[in-house]
Amino acid sequence: MAQLSQPAQNCVVQDEIQQQLAAGLLAAHAHTSPKYLYDVLGSRLFAAICELPEYYPTRTEAAIFALHAQQIAAAVGPDAILIDLGAGNCSKAARLFPSLRPRQYVAVDISVQFLEEAVSALRQQFPQIEMTCLGMDFSSELELPATLGMDRRQFFYPGSSIGNFAPLEALMFLRRIRKGIGSSGGGLLIGVDLIKDKAILNPAYDDALGVTAAFNLNLLHHVNRLLDADFRPRDWRHRAFYNSEQHRIEMHLEARNELTVHWQNGGMRRFARGERIHTESSYKYTREGFVDMLQQAGYGAVQTWCDPNNWFMVCHAQVA
Ligand code: AVI
Repeated sequence: MAQLSQPAQNCVVQDEIQQQLAAGLLAAHAHTSPKYLYDVLGSRLFAAICELPEYYPTRTEAAIFALHAQQIAAAVGPDAILIDLGAGNCSKAARLFPSLRPRQYVAVDISVQFLEEAVSALRQQFPQIEMTCLGMDFSSELELPATLGMDRRQFFYPGSSIGNFAPLEALMFLRRIRKGIGSSGGGLLIGVDLIKDKAILNPAYDDALGVTAAFNLNLLHHVNRLLDADFRPRDWRHRAFYNSEQHRIEMHLEARNELTVHWQNGGMRRFARGERIHTESSYKYTREGFVDMLQQAGYGAVQTWCDPNNWFMVCHAQVA
């Protein structure tokens, strides 16, 4: 296939995004990919969610890493290449550097510019660790540069982001990582949110301050920019609840009244009052269910650490 120039390639990507968004909005049950929750404001709102008293995953995972630092470091082993998927401001990995002592740190995220800033500050703090930034959307494919060493690749995927994939997609994603590890003694260190009482789950995704509501509604501003659409956030209401049959939190935007939304090239959809757009799912697992999935994805020995309430789990899966 002929190579596309950079601007032409960007146009292809933009076309794909617009087609994907329009198809989701026109589906019988309208939906959008959760990645559209994360424009600049969306990323800031997500950082604010992580500070909320109701949103237990971030602080619970951090407490597990702090309490079991030595055992986790023993499972990972020193001098690894630590590949941080969705690194963001790199703070989660940086907190582990003193105990994990990697030889190289590879920060991967969609926005490489944001990564460069975070990594240049870390280089001063940890000059002994070689650091690299990679800008890529690793959710659909994981292509690491051929120059990256193969020996002891340890992937790091914290925050229970695996929960934002449907189970079959999660399995395929874990398989892609497994392939990326190769066979030279690497592994995967991953955070997983566990099934628990609705009374804990529901407020975590529908907080009293309305930060998660703003995060969800902000998707409409993002879609307006991407699709030249005329969504008005005021016409929509945030809905989030635990679906215990599917073991997932569902986030939706619900039309407050009957309304019509228009977008580029004559696209439009009429929404009845109460009709919803499904914007995100956040799957919750049992310990056994997730370990089983790791095994199906081709990993070997798995070690797990949980908090005292069994709300959250950190797993290390070895590759022989
Ligand atoms: C990024 N991800 C793991 C979060 C979650 O809990 O599913 C996203 C989120 N959505 C609403 N609150 C947080």
